[in-house]
Parts: sequence; structure tokens; C-alpha cells
Amino acid sequence: MSQQFDVAVIGAGAAGMMCAGVAGQRGRRVVIIDHASRLAEKIRISGGGRCNFTNIDAGPQNFLSGNPHFCRSALARYTSRDFLDLVNRHRIPWHEKHKGQLFCDRSAEDIIAMLKAECDAGGVAWRMPVKVAGVSRAGERFRIDTDGGVIEAASLVIATGGLSIPKIGATDFAFRIAKQFDVPVVATRPALVPLTFDDAGWQAYTPLAGIALPVDIETGEKRSRMRFREDLLFTHRGLSGPAVLQISSYWMDGAALTINLLPEVDVAAELLGNKGAIRKNLANHLSGWLPARLVEGLLAANRFDPAARAADMPDRELRRLADILNRWTIVPSGSEGYRKAEVTRGGVDTRALSQQTMMVNAVPGLHFIGEAVDVTGWLGGYNFQWAWASGVAAGVAT
Ligand code: FDA
Repeated sequence: MSQQFDVAVIGAGAAGMMCAGVAGQRGRRVVIIDHASRLAEKIRISGGGRCNFTNIDAGPQNFLSGNPHFCRSALARYTSRDFLDLVNRHRIPWHEKHKGQLFCDRSAEDIIAMLKAECDAGGVAWRMPVKVAGVSRAGERFRIDTDGGVIEAASLVIATGGLSIPKIGATDFAFRIAKQFDVPVVATRPALVPLTFDDAGWQAYTPLAGIALPVDIETGEKRSRMRFREDLLFTHRGLSGPAVLQISSYWMDGAALTINLLPEVDVAAELLGNKGAIRKNLANHLSGWLPARLVEGLLAANRFDPAARAADMPDRELRRLADILNRWTIVPSGSEGYRKAEVTRGGVDTRALSQQTMMVNAVPGLHFIGEAVDVTGWLGGYNFQWAWASGVAAGVAT
């Protein structure tokens, strides 16, 4: 005997729970299925355990997608203010960290408990941990074969997320289902991820591991050039920190990054303009602008004598130094991959989906939501806002 529902949601993460709660509270009979033994592990580890649950300024400009307009409708119909209202109704204390990023005061567990309570208010049935063996059409309905029996539903919502952090249960399930139903998938790649450099090239910079500083970081050609001002972090294997995570979503293999380590100082003008008046040696002079350990490492890596005085150096050398500080150009060899990526870029092609309902245009009743879809947010609460907004879009339509 199969178990009958109106809506089956596969994936009880951010988008799946949001969708299930909304559909359930509309009076739909909803089941939510997840293979994990712990609920919403990605929410739990997000934002350093405090979940950066939205960004108050979230808009289509903060997302990457093959079709940048696709996310507009869902984000407009369920905004960060709407999510904040929900958080406030559940009396969850929160604070704004910076740049519109909202975090829980206590713990990400508050958001998980809130979503669970919303599902319970909608009478959602839980099947977890339950493995899905396969999905098929049963006439007008969908049949889901699980290790807990057969489930049938009129609507099927795929909310199994992307490929990031397989260790906590990420799978390619959404992309396999897309393929099965002939739904195109935009090639995926790790995003919001630290970037790495080949061992020989990076050796000179390894002593800088642990240093962090605000920078301007850029990549891409003229029309697609992207720039962020955020903190950069040197690591043993390469570069990380918010600046690099942000730019990693735009970085393509073989492309260069240009980093301005001193965005507030025109180094060429300062060094050449005041050349005669600079009494300190290079290391001491530059340490007025940058951490001493960074200065030491950069001078050594680029073969400058730290004891030299600007006044004694040829203008050509001072310009080379200024270029390293204001326009440091480096080519990463790769990234830390899905093991460390916060999100997956690419995914179910938005051209196959309705932007109002997240339903596959050619397969009535089949919806894709959340990170599985080719909509990827910047760092800073945008990815959860997409999970909530796309979850609601499907939840009101199923
Ligand atoms: P999500 O990954 O949340 O849920 C997918 C669910 O599907 C999981 O419960 C999984 O177990 C289940 N599943 C997968 N395969 C399955 C299968 N085959 N069968 C059954 N179930 C299956 N974003 C943000 O806005 N602010 C933040 O602070 C952070 N911080 C952050 C930190 C870290 C370390 C990571 C890795 C990511 C973030 N993110 C973030 C990104 C954010 O977590 C992510 O974008 C959302 O969780 C995506 O929500 P989804 O519901 O689409 O997938």
C-alpha cells in the first residue's frame, strides 16, 4: 500500500522545510523526506553556528545565474523583511553584524526549531532518516520508492541542495532527478570557496599564513569584471577570507585575480612624490600602512631589499613595488573544492522553470528549489534568502 499525499518534499534543509511548512499551512497534505539522521546540518553549521539567516538588502543584484532575472519574482514576493517578521514572531533574538547581514544572537538551532515548528503547524509528516531509491511517474502523480515504503503525491518538490560539503550529506540527487526528467543542468562548480596556488609559486607566501587585511579584489574581463571590498586572509595553501570567497564565485580557471592591498593609498604617488623626504627604510615605511609581517613577506617574495631607502631606489623599482601593493596580480591554480565550498554554483537550468512557482514547465507538478537551482548568492545571508524565497514560491503553488 502506498502512502498518499498532496505534496512530497525531498530534502529537509532550509528550502525544503520552508516549502513544506507553507504548503502544510495552506491545508495541503505534505510529507518531507530526508536521508540525514540529524535535521538541517547545514543550517546548524552556518554563520559560524549563528546562521546569517538573511541579508536585509538582498536583491537580484546579489546573485549569479545563467538568467540573472529569474530570481527577481520570488525574491520580491518573499523578502528578507518577510523572513525577519517570521523570526520576530518566533521571538528569536538577532543582530545585524555588518553590511545588512542578520545573525542569531544565540544559535542557528533557533532557526532550525522555528522551521520545524512551522512544519508542525502545517501538520507535515516526517520521513527521516529515509533513503529514496527512485522517483517515477504514476499517471498524473509521482511515485517515490523509499526504504520506508512507497509514497505517492500530486506534487514533488526537490530540495536536496547542491554538492557542497558531502561529509554532511550533500548529494547530486537533484541533478540526477533533473536528468531523469530531461531538465537541463548548468555545469556546477564550487563557489564561496578558498582559492589555492601551486606549491612552488606559493612557497614564498606561506610565512604570511594567518594575516588578514581589508582589500579590493577583482577578476574577469571588462564587461564581466567583478570587484569586492572585503577582508583577505592568507592561508598555508592560498587565499581565503570573505574577499576571496566572494570573488571565487566569479573566478574562472586560468583567470587572474587583481588585489589592491592598500585600497586607501596611491602607493606610486606617495613613494615617487615624496621620494626624497622618506627617511625610513622600505620595511619601516611600509609598516606604517600594512602589518609588519606582511611587509616583510611581500618584500622578500618579490626580491626587494627591506633595508633600502626609497630615496636611493630607481623610480622603476618604486613603480614595481607600488604595482605589487595596489595591483597584485596572481593566478590561482584551483580551489579547495566542494569539501570547503559554502555553496555550489550552477545547477538546474532556470530556463526550464517557472519563476513564479519553481515548477518545471515541461513536467507539471515537479518543482526544484533552493541551492539545487542555478541561482547562487553572494556571501552574507543571500543564499538562505534564496532558499526561503524559492521555498515559499513553491509552497504557495503546490
Ligand atoms: P540544504 O543543503 O540546506 O538542504 C538539503 C537537504 O537535502 C539536506 O538536509 C540533505 O540531508 C538532504 N539531501 C541531500 N541529498 C539527499 C538525498 N539523496 N536524499 C534525501 N535527502 C537528501 N548561507 C547563508 O545565507 N548564510 C550563512 O551563514 C551560510 N553559512 C554557510 C556555512 C557553511 C559551512 C556552508 C556549507 C554553507 C553556508 N551557507 C550559508 C549556504 C547555505 O547553507 C545553503 O545555501 C542552504 O542551506 C541551501 O539550502 P537548501 O535547502 O537548498 O539545501
